[in-house]
Amino acid sequence: MAKVQDQQDGLWVVDFGSQYTHLIARKLREQQVYCECVPPTAERPRADFKVRGVILSGGPDTVSAGDARALPAWVLALQVPVLGICYGMQLLVKHFGGHVGSGEQREYGAAQITGVEAAECSGDLPDNFEMWSGFKRSHQVWMSHGDHIERLPAGMSVVARSDRAIAACVGERGRIFGLQYHPEVEHTQNGAEFLAYFARQVSGVGERWQPSSMLTALRHSLTKQVQPSHKSQRILVACSGGVDSTVALVLLTQIFGQKWVKGVLVNTGLLRLDDLERMQTLGLELGVSLEVVDAEAEFYQRLKGVTHPEAKRKVIGATFIDVFKAYSQAHQDSYGYLAQGTLYSDVIESGGGGVHPRLIKTHHNVGGLPEQVPFEIIEPLRSLFKDEVRKLGAELGIPGAILWQHPFPGPGLGVRIAGEVDAAKVKMLQQADKIYVDYLHEHHMYEQIWQAFCVLLPVKSVGVMGDQRTYEWVISLRAITSTDAMTAQVAEIPMRHLTQVAARIVAGVSGVNRVLYDVTTKPPATIEWE
Ligand code: XMP
Repeated sequence: MAKVQDQQDGLWVVDFGSQYTHLIARKLREQQVYCECVPPTAERPRADFKVRGVILSGGPDTVSAGDARALPAWVLALQVPVLGICYGMQLLVKHFGGHVGSGEQREYGAAQITGVEAAECSGDLPDNFEMWSGFKRSHQVWMSHGDHIERLPAGMSVVARSDRAIAACVGERGRIFGLQYHPEVEHTQNGAEFLAYFARQVSGVGERWQPSSMLTALRHSLTKQVQPSHKSQRILVACSGGVDSTVALVLLTQIFGQKWVKGVLVNTGLLRLDDLERMQTLGLELGVSLEVVDAEAEFYQRLKGVTHPEAKRKVIGATFIDVFKAYSQAHQDSYGYLAQGTLYSDVIESGGGGVHPRLIKTHHNVGGLPEQVPFEIIEPLRSLFKDEVRKLGAELGIPGAILWQHPFPGPGLGVRIAGEVDAAKVKMLQQADKIYVDYLHEHHMYEQIWQAFCVLLPVKSVGVMGDQRTYEWVISLRAITSTDAMTAQVAEIPMRHLTQVAARIVAGVSGVNRVLYDVTTKPPATIEWE
């Protein structure tokens, strides 16, 4: 069993608003380097986290602009190695007295970089310093910068160049690095290798972090944080039927025992056909206690007449909060803690990790709980990514069929019925979706697809069934492949399968007479229709 350390060993990634910041964390964790993304306002690591190095992310600002985010004073005060990426590099260069220029040298997309001769960059390095050998090879990197380094400060040397710009630099006796390119994106060759070099060799992160050490560490920290020692201190877990909250429920039950932990699942009326039953069966199988709170009628009532996607998302989120609040207030004598399955990506997306990306959709999940609940909130998974949660879930004995189910959005079928939602439409969509997903399982395609589902369109079309004319609703099938849902490709399901699914849906779902296949990638479309 992995040793529980009193201090976790790792890196801090300071988020200056780059769309790639979370990828830096991912790339490090894939290499068993523990790290956390923090906003520039963070100052002091938790007492149990030993920050061995800091990475400054890229960002949309221009260092010379008056409102640009500055290099926080605490970064250098920590006295650990610092790596600046893109904007982060420019901040470091400016701080140490170099010059950052705008325009002309901008580079977007793939570029080739070449390392400089050792003599050129040896000025300020200690004798035993070992430079990353990757710079010796000319290789492709991904650039995305408008500003560029015009002059490095004294004591910093160029390590690699592209055709147009300084691509990498080092200074402060090998403790400060700058990369103009993004080592965290797939298109950069050996990018992960450089990040590992910075973490292990430059910063000295020794610990090999992995989700299994996480289980031991989680037990350790949760038993310290949570003491459900008497009746009014039990733990309530907000469940959505999805992977994350299920893992949180099972984890807490295994640590504290069923007597102290209860899952609550709100039936919004917007769940998939088998969701409630599946969760109840799972509850029995895994020995967790689960209660379903029925609020279907309230959701349908409040969604009446609401057609705009954002308005629907807001109504669903607010109704969820009200239902949960009422439940929690009625039970505050029994529970002291409220647990939710917030993941690391939720923390980042909701701005907790740093700067907000531009709003595309208002996300709602069980992380969107009321701000004021009469409980102490616990989020045991908030430092984990989805794949890490799946590994943890497998260790806890949760069946693969649950862990590998496709993602399902918090607002559920509410955002898969374009336009107004009502009970009849939900029923049609539930039936069609089940037929489609069952078919994919039957033909072993489900596991190869990131996400597949049906959407009910607010359009009727004419058809003919038997000798009768029909005028009924239209369903669109969607199936995409992806690695992180930030971009998506269309899953290439053979036409013979699509026509089979269409035939089954039209035959099996009363009210639907036509089926389409959505062949749009993300971008420009999003995965969900609303
Ligand atoms: P989009 O539609 O933005 O979806 O391309 C990206 C991924 O996020 C899921 N999604 C949500 N998940 N609450 C969630 O928990 C939400 O409000 C929400 N909206 C979209 C979507 O299913 C896809 O996996």
